[in-house]
Amino acid sequence: MKPGSPYSPWPVCRCGRARSRKRSLAAPLDPRRSPRPPSWLPTAYPIEVPARLTLADALREKLDLVGTHLGCEHGICGSCTVIIDGQASRSCTVLAASLDGADVRTIEGLSQDGALSPLQQAFADCHGLQCGFCTPGYLMTLEALLSADAPPSREQLLDALAGVVCRCTGYVGVLAAAEAAVAARYGAVG
Ligand code: FES
Ligand code: FES
Repeated sequence: MKPGSPYSPWPVCRCGRARSRKRSLAAPLDPRRSPRPPSWLPTAYPIEVPARLTLADALREKLDLVGTHLGCEHGICGSCTVIIDGQASRSCTVLAASLDGADVRTIEGLSQDGALSPLQQAFADCHGLQCGFCTPGYLMTLEALLSADAPPSREQLLDALAGVVCRCTGYVGVLAAAEAAVAARYGAVG
């Protein structure tokens, strides 16, 4: 992973943005901000959160969205990755109160009407998971990467995958699944 990579494990502190004691966290409302059809968009969840509650804890404890997994809680393992305003982000290092009005996407939004998304299907087909603990992190990381108009280079793909730690699969299946997802999305790996 290159220094300065958006997938770097070192968190960016956003504490300075959380000045008020209580703010609201809202999921996306504007379909123009999403490449997905409106049916994919989750409901807005206006909630009040304590100033020091992380986004990961807000999702899991306030909204019962437990598909976002917590491993290290230090910004290292990547299991808690969600998409904030189009960027893959570690939800354990972001204060929920700093995200007033932000577009936050979680693993719960990937499937539609109970059907796996192409990305999820690629992981299933290529044995890209074993216990599945890290899988939401990989899926949300790749979902953000594959939202670009142009396909990622192999270096970019490896850089993105390096931001998530898996304890089971040995990464071979994960890489195969990622490459299959890229091929399905763009026709070929760039
Ligand atoms: S739980 Fe957030 S990076 Fe590990
Ligand atoms: S599949 Fe078990 S930690 Fe990755």
